[in-house]
Amino acid sequence: MPSYNLLINDKNYTVEADAKMPLLWAIRDLAGLTGTKFGCGISQCGACTVHFNGTPVRSCSIPVSSAVGQKITTIEGLSADNSHPVQQAWIAEQVPQCGYCQSGQIMAATALLKKNANPTDKDIDTAMQGYLCRCGTYNRIRAAIKTASQLMNKASTN
Ligand code: FES
Ligand code: FES
Repeated sequence: MPSYNLLINDKNYTVEADAKMPLLWAIRDLAGLTGTKFGCGISQCGACTVHFNGTPVRSCSIPVSSAVGQKITTIEGLSADNSHPVQQAWIAEQVPQCGYCQSGQIMAATALLKKNANPTDKDIDTAMQGYLCRCGTYNRIRAAIKTASQLMNKASTN
């Protein structure tokens, strides 16, 4: 079995895996980081979203061999104690219902706010399109992104 070096949340992991194993399984089963979730497995729901160098990607549809050399960030990499402003906003707005889709939603929102500190409703809808929530938390997600934006802007002016 070939082995691959993965840089996840600034830590090196060496995993032994079939080259075609989806990165999601390497993250969950081999690196033991279970915050990233499996939803559809076919790039349709966004539950498995992680970042490659800050850009959201769907880890269910990327072979582990293609993740070598990427700076991978998972939900665990945002903060050690839920203190990231996006996580704080999610808590403040009580976004999750069952919670299953929320890691992916938070990773998508974090990437959006990095590019656009003051997203409009339209910016949010565009960026969050394709991140499915079967519990229908979309309005709270939008509110939390605005709250996170305020928290981040406040922190940068202090
Ligand atoms: S599990 Fe990857 S997009 Fe649904
Ligand atoms: S909170 Fe249940 S699927 Fe989104």
